[in-house]
Amino acid sequence: MKGIVFTEFLELVEDKFGIETVEQIISDSDLESKGVYTAVETYKFTEMVSLLTNLSNLTKISPNDLLKVYGLHFFDVLVQNYGNILKNYKTPLELLESIDAHIHVAVRKLYPDAELPYFEVAKTSDNTLTMTYHSSRAMYAFAHGLMEKTFEHYNQKATINYQLLKEDGTIVKFQIVKE
Ligand code: HEM
Repeated sequence: MKGIVFTEFLELVEDKFGIETVEQIISDSDLESKGVYTAVETYKFTEMVSLLTNLSNLTKISPNDLLKVYGLHFFDVLVQNYGNILKNYKTPLELLESIDAHIHVAVRKLYPDAELPYFEVAKTSDNTLTMTYHSSRAMYAFAHGLMEKTFEHYNQKATINYQLLKEDGTIVKFQIVKE
């Protein structure tokens, strides 16, 4: 997992819960990196799982609720760092529809070792998009936060429902209906 996912996560934890919480979850997790991350390096995904699990134990907020909030925040990180990619899309549905075929393809060119999800997309009407998330990392709640913020970014609204097609969250079907 890319370092930017760790650095931004720890910044958000500091903002919401304070630096003591950041230090606590790092010392509770047995990290090869010792909790020192730089944006462009790559770290083990298991480090993110440890940090998230320890934050969840400390705050009593479920890992998925934490991941959703992180997804909402991460969209702003994308706007700041990858605005040149995002500006190609005029509507939220167009952007979401393009993640797999264009956006994450561009990301893979920048970082060949990126661990990205795979989305199956189907536009079932002008206002409806179905996106089936596939990833061994089961970060669908992070995807959900990103999808919600995509609409907010364009000042539009949508109803987003999802259904776990595999109980462990590695395959999740989202239905997105623009209002
Ligand atoms: C992961 C880039 C848009 C869904 C990532 C990662 C990067 C990235 C760098 C981390 C890869 C790694 O750690 O190895 C981008 C860029 C975007 C974009 C530059 C737009 C300009 C989106 C959007 C969604 C999305 C709109 C919403 C569904 C995800 C998910 C992951 C991820 C769920 C976590 C990894 C996983 O679940 O397997 N993306 N992304 N991305 N991205 Fe994107």
